[in-house]
Amino acid sequence: MFKRIRLGVLASGGGTNLQAIIDHCQAGSLAAEIAVVITNNPGAGALERAAKAGIPTLCINHREFARREDFDSAVVGALQEAHVELVVLAGFMRIITPAFIEVFPERVINIHPALLPSFPGMHVQQQAIDYGARFSGCTVHFVDGGVDTGPIIIQAVVPVLPEDTADTLAARILEQEHLIYPRAIQLIAEGRVRVEGRRVIIRPACPADPTALVNPAAED
Ligand code: GRF
Repeated sequence: MFKRIRLGVLASGGGTNLQAIIDHCQAGSLAAEIAVVITNNPGAGALERAAKAGIPTLCINHREFARREDFDSAVVGALQEAHVELVVLAGFMRIITPAFIEVFPERVINIHPALLPSFPGMHVQQQAIDYGARFSGCTVHFVDGGVDTGPIIIQAVVPVLPEDTADTLAARILEQEHLIYPRAIQLIAEGRVRVEGRRVIIRPACPADPTALVNPAAED
């Protein structure tokens, strides 16, 4: 068993990724608890999903702040107050400042609906179609201050079909997002993830032990 890692989820929209994380926490397949859900958008569906699961929510509206830094420091303060260990951006439509990342070094992750480094930024499903890409997918990565540039933790690939619209492709990608985001969080919760430059190294679940043979093998 692993100690449950405390998550702070930041979301601006519908919150289906948040829902996937909630579902895994509730099912016991994710050693995490969501300490707080923060949104910048008072109309975010994520708020309702969190409230339904009994998770504390906070709306910090970026429009009420003159500077990006001030908004970020309000968010950071709320995350610290909730004793958050890992910040999970789940459809959070704000670029976060380096000062934010300094407070949570290698502790902020994001999910992006394309195969990075291709198609960073916005409207990326349409971009993949327009470019003629045969495959697209999704990427969970550490956030490093750039736009969708941080070290990659997990990716999933889906085909781009001839009849795809941005919506049908987005739906196919979203299904994979709901699988890989909880998986990435679980790997981090288990302490198996480390960053070496651009590369993310993931320790295997049961490392070979040259000094002993244990039967039955230790549980994952
Ligand atoms: C997802 O496609 C995610 O990759 C992107 O924003 C979307 C959020 O969807 N960053 P939801 O709010 O989790 O449903």
